[in-house]
Order: sequence, then structure tokens, then C-alpha cells
Amino acid sequence: MWYNKAMPTAILTRSLTKQYGQLTALSDFDLEVEQGSIFGLLGPNGAGKTTLIRILTTLMRQTSGEASVEGLDTGTQGREIRRLIGVVPQENSLDRYLTARENLELHARLHGMEARRYASRIDELLELMGLAGRQKDFPDTFSGGMQRRLVVARALVHEPRVLFLDEPTTGLDPQSRRAVWDYVRSIAGSMTIFLTTHYLEEAEQLCDRIAIMDHGRLIALGSTQELKDRLAGGTAYRIEFETGAPRYAELLKGMACLREIEVTGQTVCVGLESWECLSEVLGALNGAPVRRIALRERTLEDVFISPTGSGVRE
Ligand SMILES: Nc1ncnc2c1ncn2[C@@H]1O[C@H](COP(=O)(O)OP(=O)(O)O)[C@@H](O)[C@H]1O
Ligand SMILES: [Mg+2]
Repeated sequence: MWYNKAMPTAILTRSLTKQYGQLTALSDFDLEVEQGSIFGLLGPNGAGKTTLIRILTTLMRQTSGEASVEGLDTGTQGREIRRLIGVVPQENSLDRYLTARENLELHARLHGMEARRYASRIDELLELMGLAGRQKDFPDTFSGGMQRRLVVARALVHEPRVLFLDEPTTGLDPQSRRAVWDYVRSIAGSMTIFLTTHYLEEAEQLCDRIAIMDHGRLIALGSTQELKDRLAGGTAYRIEFETGAPRYAELLKGMACLREIEVTGQTVCVGLESWECLSEVLGALNGAPVRRIALRERTLEDVFISPTGSGVRE
């Protein structure tokens, strides 16, 4: 066996790779998620988040590499995995011809639950998600936030050990988003929660650990605080000089609000504590032959793969 069953690991991937024709959606992906944690997978659109969730939830097969959920192999033990997991897919996928309650009942029956067991479980979940009063209504009459909560309730009916949430709050207004966060928090603890999001704020609010991915690759992995520290504030500017760039770089290096600096020819890139520091920088450069100053947008990759100033970083 390539995994170690003794470890309290809910999700494990090793060199997981998925190709769609020429496109590599997931590339050599290594991940480990501890049981009982809330784990956030953060990445922009097209990063490969849904691809990873589809493989872990056994809806799709990888091209190469391995993945396990609760020690079960996604390639050979799909049926066992599906019994242990709850899935909130990116699209709501509610049955619009069934009432809210009937949507949950259908799910319970599909999971082979008996009526006397699922009736009370469904009562509980409707209460927990704040939907008890609307259980006889059809999902089409619900707000986006209520529909999302109903899908979360549905994923919980059969008491899964691992809950997958694919962008649980994308498209919701801030208030509904917070409501969904509260409900996710209230169900945490008893199970492992794996969620994807492209909102940094969401990952910060909910997750114990965060992985950041883009272009199918894992960029960074750590506790929420570690990654927050690395992403915090900060803006970067490119300053082009007519002449004398190294000399002005020396001058800037002494400044307190400067985090990083890199000199290339007559161009100096500076990373600043916050954008307000720019006026201080401009003050220091008073009279210098500056040709142009431009804001440099920082991408996740800038922050996590190639912090500027490698070598000259103070
Ligand atoms: N069924 C598919 N066939 C071909 N390409 C796909 C398919 N699904 C996703 N992709 C591509 O794979 C990449 C990752 O997509 P996806 O996993 O949906 O990312 P995310 O969920 O992070 O937005 C994207 O470039 C997307 O266009
Ligand atoms: Mg997606």
C-alpha cells in the first residue's frame, strides 16, 4: 500500500496529475489533509480546484498519481468512498420539482437510509441551516444563500466523515456569504471539511490550513496565519531611472517601510509595506532622474514563488 493507514489523514494525494488532452489541469499534486480539520484550497478561476475535487469524490479519474480519502483508494474503492463523503458541488443541482424537504429525503433514500432514521436527521438539519420554516417550499423560490444552505444540508444527511464544498459562496452577496460561513463553522469539528474558494478572506475566516494553487500546481501550503503573513498588505512598484539606479537603490534600502528591493539595469522594483509608503519613497527620490513609476500588480505566484529581491532582500 502506498499510504499509511495508521495516520489520521483524511485526504492524501501523491503526484496527482490530470490531463484534458493537451491541457494539464493538475500537475504532480501532493496534498495531505488531517482528519477533523477545515482545509481551504485557494486559487483563481481555472486553477484546477474543481478537477481535484472531482477526482477525490470519485466522479473522475486521474491521468496518473494517487489519491485516497479516509485511507481508501479513489481508483479502486470509489463505492466505499462515496458512502463516507458529502459533496456540495460548484453548481447547486437541486431538484426543482421537489420541495426542500423532499430534496433531502430523496438523498437519504439514495443512501439507503430508513425513514425513521432520516426523518429526525432532516428535522435537525433544516433547523440548523435556518430552513425549517421553508421546508415545504420549492428551491426556485429560495434566495441564492438559502439554496446553498439547502445543498449543504443535503450533503450532511447521511452523516459523512469528509465534506467537500466546491466554492460554497461564489456568487452570494456578502451577507449570505457570512451566513454560510456561520453554518459551516457550526458543523465543523465532527468531520473533515475540504473547501475550495477564490476568496482569500473566506479561507482566512474558516480554515485551519490553506493550500494555494494555480495552473494545476501547488504554490504554497501552510497554516492560515503563515500564509496571511506572506500575503498581507504590500504593494510593489517599478521605478525606472534615466541613470544612477544602483545609487538610488542604496538610498531606498535604508527606509523602514521597504520590504524588498531588486535592481535590474536602470529599473528598481520595490515592495512596500503599504501604498501610503509611496510618498515617502518619492520624497527620498526628490530630484532623482526618474523616468517612470508604475504599480506592479502582484499575483499569487509573485508572492509565493518569486518574491522579488532574491539575493538583495534585506
Ligand atoms: N472537462 C474538461 N475538459 C477540458 N478542459 C477542462 C475540463 N474541465 C476543466 N477544464 C480546464 O482545466 C482547467 C482547470 O479547471 P477547473 O478544475 O474547473 O478549475 P477551477 O475549479 O479552479 O476553476 C481549466 O483550464 C479548465 O478550462
Ligand atoms: Mg471550479
